[in-house]
Amino acid sequence: MLILGIDTSCDDTSAGLLRDGREVLANVVHSQIALHHRHGGVVPELASREHLRNLIPVVEEALKAGEADFRDLDAIAVTQGPGLVGSLLVGLYYAKALAFSLEIPLIAVNHLEAHLLSIFLEPETPPFPYAALTVSGGHTQLYHVRGYGDYTLLGQTVDDAAGEAFDKVAKIFGLGYPGGRVIEALARSGDAGAIRFPRAWMGKESLDFSFSGLKTAVLLQHRSWAEAPEAERACSLADMAAAFQEAVVDVLVQKTLAAVERMGVSAAAVAGGVACNGRLRGRMSAAAQERGISVFYPRPAYCTDNGAMIALTGYHRFLKGETAGLDVDARSKFPMDDLPGGRRGELQG
Ligand code: KG4
Ligand code: ZN
Repeated sequence: MLILGIDTSCDDTSAGLLRDGREVLANVVHSQIALHHRHGGVVPELASREHLRNLIPVVEEALKAGEADFRDLDAIAVTQGPGLVGSLLVGLYYAKALAFSLEIPLIAVNHLEAHLLSIFLEPETPPFPYAALTVSGGHTQLYHVRGYGDYTLLGQTVDDAAGEAFDKVAKIFGLGYPGGRVIEALARSGDAGAIRFPRAWMGKESLDFSFSGLKTAVLLQHRSWAEAPEAERACSLADMAAAFQEAVVDVLVQKTLAAVERMGVSAAAVAGGVACNGRLRGRMSAAAQERGISVFYPRPAYCTDNGAMIALTGYHRFLKGETAGLDVDARSKFPMDDLPGGRRGELQG
């Protein structure tokens, strides 16, 4: 079965081609980073216009890379939400038109579920049940994953997402958008112990997250750092980047391992754009190894937004008979507990 997966939820236009739910034949992403960089964040109007311009070439490139033709497709999977509504609509209406003209099923996919399942694009996959941390620019969530489509939300951010915190700190430092990669690179030459930023634990038993207090602490620290004469500065910008990254990583590692232990599982998966972070991967794997827990990460191209994970999620929804009508609409907000099989928090202490 050949599925084309399309994602236009935010600032990447992507198309993936997946055979039989496992074999990625193509995964093409057109990034809009250069366009949004100078604005310090994604500008929704520019993003949707750019999706319009790039979607058809991206899909054609994916088909070419996968040596397939439109007529070879068995189904089209597309992100329904969550995301920027103008951006989502471009992908969704294109997919509807394609499914209608090819007379093949349309599958509406939840972008969060796609990040959660992206680990199944890899040859090494976690055994069910396991704990999953999804950390992206829009979301930070912990799930208990019992099977495809069978999830319980254990905790999530009450304010900023982890990736959003990286992006905001990069903006405070004047480093543009997006922030994750530049902050990680800067942190490499810094001393994480030079300053101690606060960690929000949200109560002893809580698996929720909060990053806005940390962001404010970095803002205040940066302000006094910038105002001080250079000779009197107690730390460098790199030290601040490293100390900030360490605070985020500390919380993500400890809460993920707490979830694993509380659920009595032996594996975890970490996905979403922030899962590209080398410090997070290193600290998570080291801490997990000490406790005999295995941790799985998708390769970076499957951590950030991509069409292959949409095709994969579409495949599993299709197996459950969940196809969409042509009247399906975009959903800017689309919590996973709205999915068939989604549950919320019954394991949270
Ligand atoms: O999953 P993704 O591509 O898009 C969303 O669905 O949000 O994630 C993008 C987010 C951005 O906030 C970006 O700063 C962050 O992932 N990110 C990173 C790294 N690479 C990307 N954060 C920390 N370290 C990185 N190396
Ligand atoms: Zn995403």
